[in-house]
Formats: sequence, structure tokens, C-alpha cells
Amino acid sequence: MSDLLDAVRAGAPAADLLDTELPTSYKAAYVRVDEVGIFEGETDKDVRKSVHVGDVEMPELAPDECVVAVMAAAINFNTVWTAVFEPLPTFHFLYRYGQSGPHAARHNLPWHQLGSDGSGVVVRTGSAVRKWKVGDKVVISPAYFDAEDPDTYEDGVKAATQKAWGFETNFGSLGEYCLVKASQLMPKAAHLSWEEAASNTLCAATAYRMLVGQHGGQMKQGDVVLVWGGTGGLGSYAVQLVKNGGGIPVAVVSSEEKAELVRGQGVEHVINRSALNLGDQGLAHPKAGRIMGEEIRRMAGEDPQIVFEYLGKETFETSVYVAKTGGKIVTCGSSTGFQHSYDNRRLWMRVKSIVGSHGFNYKEAWETNRLFQRGMLQPTLSTVFPLEQTAEATRAVQTNQHIGKVGVLCGATAEHQGIDDPALREKIGEDRIMLYRQKQP
Ligand SMILES: NC(=O)c1ccc[n+]([C@@H]2O[C@H](COP(=O)([O-])OP(=O)(O)OC[C@H]3O[C@@H](n4cnc5c(N)ncnc54)[C@H](OP(=O)(O)O)[C@@H]3O)[C@@H](O)[C@H]2O)c1
Repeated sequence: MSDLLDAVRAGAPAADLLDTELPTSYKAAYVRVDEVGIFEGETDKDVRKSVHVGDVEMPELAPDECVVAVMAAAINFNTVWTAVFEPLPTFHFLYRYGQSGPHAARHNLPWHQLGSDGSGVVVRTGSAVRKWKVGDKVVISPAYFDAEDPDTYEDGVKAATQKAWGFETNFGSLGEYCLVKASQLMPKAAHLSWEEAASNTLCAATAYRMLVGQHGGQMKQGDVVLVWGGTGGLGSYAVQLVKNGGGIPVAVVSSEEKAELVRGQGVEHVINRSALNLGDQGLAHPKAGRIMGEEIRRMAGEDPQIVFEYLGKETFETSVYVAKTGGKIVTCGSSTGFQHSYDNRRLWMRVKSIVGSHGFNYKEAWETNRLFQRGMLQPTLSTVFPLEQTAEATRAVQTNQHIGKVGVLCGATAEHQGIDDPALREKIGEDRIMLYRQKQP
């Protein structure tokens, strides 16, 4: 444990933080290049074998970067992908990025510090940083842009140089310290604890782009939106965004407990996919589309204008089937398999479109963060682990044992630290902010 971390925990002023030495190493969660291949031939690729916690070296700071003392972080599905070395080992990303310049070369290491969401305190700023200063309380956006790539300025997501920080770069959030570009920082919502603030950005801003942003579904008032995994990382924010924008969410979940939880978020229409008449085949049932479609119409009175998709192989055919004529299937992932098949007649004859979406641009991240700051979006944090148990936390997400988001305490010594605006918290309501935490599985 470093003196600097202690100073941050004690709320020391910026001058004291600057006077306290930056440690040369710190504790972090990482995977190792010499373990790529350990899962070959295994059906259960248990991430507890590949995720380690131990000391790593503090990287050198580039002019446009900051070192953040991480108070809390969160697990995302990309942490699972990294830990199982699929679809390809992330060391390939680090190697490729490392070729692009002297500062990028720091990322190409035999270990990969995980984590794409976090909250904390800025402890060092590079010489070119203007907006942020030591002592600022921040959340970190994982959208990592190259300011010298002109494509970044129209829409960063469309720039070939865009990366997911902590997945395609090193020095992510799952550690006592992390390294960010200054353009990744956003002000922390003052009414949230460190772990609540840490858990939102990646999934919430991705859902924002998919539903609200001009590049995604562009949802209108009254649109029916089918949300797969309504209590999952993406889904738990998607249902909130649909409701905020005057849409009608239809959430799909796999149990009655989850159905009750999503109803607690004010969602009227909830389909428990386990209770549908699909037999053992589940969504592979040849009539899954028709059965789901009838259920959606029975509940919401019409077909969905937008289907919020990220599951891929097992759900995609149903998603294309149930979308309304002229509707959109907005997809950002393929958890159940990357190769999808679907009946293309359903797409072209009903003039539906498939919209690919990935992450979010700088502006979309800020717009999403603003909604948290104003209490218009609530965290969906359900479980919190200490940094030492990052492997267990990742396993919970890998095996779908979790709901909402899974948090990790890094520098914070306990939950509920870091709340600076209790009055706003009280106004929004503890029961709304803590809904998922109270219902942890
Ligand atoms: N491209 C991007 O920018 C981006 C950003 C974020 C996430 N993603 C991707 O999106 C995916 C989901 O991420 P997440 O954080 O939301 O994951 P998550 O927290 O694990 O949520 C996934 C949800 O999917 C549902 N589900 C699981 N298996 C299912 C199946 N066979 N059929 C139907 N529903 C199923 C589960 O709900 P029930 O079991 O209750 O139905 C679960 O709540 C991942 O593949 C991730 O890599 C992409």
C-alpha cells in the first residue's frame, strides 16, 4: 500500500498529493502472455485460472495522460473475453498498438492490466493536460481516441484508431492505479459512491449510442423496444433510457426474480424466456420468433420498432423476425456466438435494417455521464468484490450468475465511500440508486 493511496483516501489536498511520491509499482489484476493457450481443449474456460492479482510496474506518463488512483472499478464482458483469450488474445492488440509510436510502445508488455470502467482521483497530470488537475474526482470513459486522427472529429467510433481502453490498451482500471488519456476523464457524479460511479460508463454509454445517439436506433416517443437481458449490464441501462425517452420497453429475462427486478425499474412489459413454450430447445426452437412475437404483441400491442441486440447466434434470428416492418435491429455484440444465421426474407421484404454499433464517441459518453449526474439514470450495481477477488468477480459475469453490474473496490476500503452530495442522493432516493444492490443474487 502506498503513501499516495493513503493520502487520496484521507482526502488530502492537491499540494499534498503532488508532494507524495508516485510509487514505482502497485497492485493490479492482469492476465499473462505465457498463459495464452491454457484453455485449449477445455469446455469450461474458468477465468479464475487466468486472472491474477499482484504487483505491476507504474508506467511512465505521456504529456496528454493522467495517472488516476482508482477507488473502484467494474467488470465488463470484455474482461471475460480477455481472460479466456478469445476471440483472440488481447496481447495481439497490445502488440499492434505498441508499433504505433514511442508512448504506445509502453502498452506492449507480457502482462495486461484489465478493466474498462473506473472511478478515482487524479494524482498526476501530463505536461499537456489542461482540463484536469491533481485532486479531481473522476469517472473514466473507456473510449480511447487518437487526437491526431481526423476521423476522430466526425465520430470517434468511426476512426480506425479508436480503441477500448483496458481491452485494446494496457493499464486499465482494475488496479490501485491506472493510466488514461485526459480525454477519457469525466466528472464523477457527486451523489454516487465510488463503486456506483465506477460501474456505469461502458454499458450505459454503449446503450445510449444504440438507442438515443444519431448513429443508432434514434428512438422516438412511443417506440416499442425489445431489450434482451433486461437485467444485464447493457439491458439494465437500456430499459432506463427507453423509459426516459418516452419509449415502451419490453424486457426479456430468464427468471421470475429478474422479472420482478426489472418491474421495479418501472418496466411494465417483461417476458420470462424460461417460461415461454419453447421446450428444451429454448430460442433454437424453430417457432421461437413467432412465439416471442406473439408475446410481444400481446403485451405491448404491436411489434418492436427497435430490437436491442448483443447476444448473436442464439437470439439474432428471433430479433430479425420480431422487429416491426421498417424497424431496426441494433447490435453491438455476439455473446452466444459470432456467426449468425437468419431468414433474410424477413429483413428485405419487411424493409428492416441491421445497425452495427460499437462503444460511443466522446460526446455520447459525456451526455450519458450528465444523465447520471442529474439522477436521470441510476446505477445497476449488484455485487462488489475486493480487488484481490477480481477473478471471482469476473467468473460471476462469465457464468451469468450476476445481475446488472459487478463492482470491484480498488483503493476504496469499504462501500459507500466518496458520496459528496448526500442531499441529491436523498432527493433521488436510496431505493432507486440501490435497487440492484438490494436484490443481489
Ligand atoms: N460493442 C460494444 O461496444 C459493447 C459494449 C458493451 C457490451 N458489449 C457486448 O455485449 C454483450 C453483453 O454485455 P453485458 O455487459 O450486457 O453482459 P451481461 O451483463 O452478461 O448481460 C447479458 C444478458 O444476456 C442475457 N442472456 C445470456 N444468455 C442468453 C441467451 N442465451 N439468450 C438470451 N439472453 C441471454 C442474460 O439475461 P437473462 O439470462 O436474464 O436473459 C444477461 O443478463 C457482450 O458480448 C459484450 O461483449 C459490446
